[in-house]
Amino acid sequence: TPRVFSGIQPSGNLHLGNYLGALKRFADSQGQGTPTLYCMVDMHAITVWQNPADLRHATRELCAGFIAAGLDPAKSILFNQSQVAEHAQLAWIFNCVARMGWMGRMTQWKDKAGKNAENASLGLLAYPALMAADILVYHATHVPVGEDQKQHLELARDIAAKFNHDYGVDFFPITEPVIEGAATRVMSLRDGSKKMSKSDASDMSRINMTDNADLIAKKIRKAKTDPEPLPSDLDGLAERPEARNLVNIYAGLADMSAAEVMAEMGGKSFSEFKPALAELAVTKLAPISEEMSRLMQDPAEIDRILGKGADAARQIAAPILQKTFDIVGMVGAK
Ligand code: TYM
Repeated sequence: TPRVFSGIQPSGNLHLGNYLGALKRFADSQGQGTPTLYCMVDMHAITVWQNPADLRHATRELCAGFIAAGLDPAKSILFNQSQVAEHAQLAWIFNCVARMGWMGRMTQWKDKAGKNAENASLGLLAYPALMAADILVYHATHVPVGEDQKQHLELARDIAAKFNHDYGVDFFPITEPVIEGAATRVMSLRDGSKKMSKSDASDMSRINMTDNADLIAKKIRKAKTDPEPLPSDLDGLAERPEARNLVNIYAGLADMSAAEVMAEMGGKSFSEFKPALAELAVTKLAPISEEMSRLMQDPAEIDRILGKGADAARQIAAPILQKTFDIVGMVGAK
């Protein structure tokens, strides 16, 4: 049976890349008959240092972001990872299934740990095994994510396949990554070769989901471009990463394909295209930002939603974990 799961780290600065690559697509796929679970992965966040007060704030703000982006707690299960202990329990088993070599090859590990791997947390190396557990503890079949998570999802498939093989079972599904739409890899507004990211030192490189209308418009006005007008078709964007990124952002926000945007905007100068993009972005994003700050006025209500979500998630995860223990040979009361 199909089931959708995805997660976002509550590590601050929820941005346009998270929205177009993930959140917006979660909202679009909700209520279509397939059960959907969306998780604030606080245990993933602490693989690098998080100030406790900031983590608390970011978790609630992320939940507000989910709801403001259109996720309905009555239709999707919204919860934070640490409250469903089954994630950590299955992750331990997967730590024993996954191989060190697999983990060491992850590009995100190499980027984040860099040359100072000796000093990185053990959790940062094991991160993809926890991610596999997030998905597989629900037997989720479909995982909507941005392009940057593709390698981690391939590892989740490898872990599922190795577990099934080692124990001679056909228990964990081989999950499908769902990487769709025009904006699966939103780039920095300052450098078209870098991914838009919450950790970029320049705030002008990204549009935060908490930015107000003026700031959104300003960041688009100031976005780096080349001096040429937009080409007449998609092929003309091949060597122009900044222009291509703005076209992809337009397409993602307008629910169009990049080709459709080019049919409308091809040949226009940036002095025409940027104001059109700014207006579109403000129309789509400013209401979300306003709704997020409204929801943040009542943190107790957010905590209540997360608590209910955790209860619902546990209902699904607990029997799957028990069955896993049984397969592994861990004795327990029946
Ligand atoms: P995270 O928190 O870095 O990002 C959350 C989601 O946003 C997408 N994303 C982007 N999409 C397009 N352009 C960008 N510039 C951009 N930046 C981020 C990510 O691809 C992701 O979909 N490991 C995950 C969280 C996670 C998870 C999971 C996801 C933990 N367990 C299980 C799916 C299933 C992460 O760090 O995402």
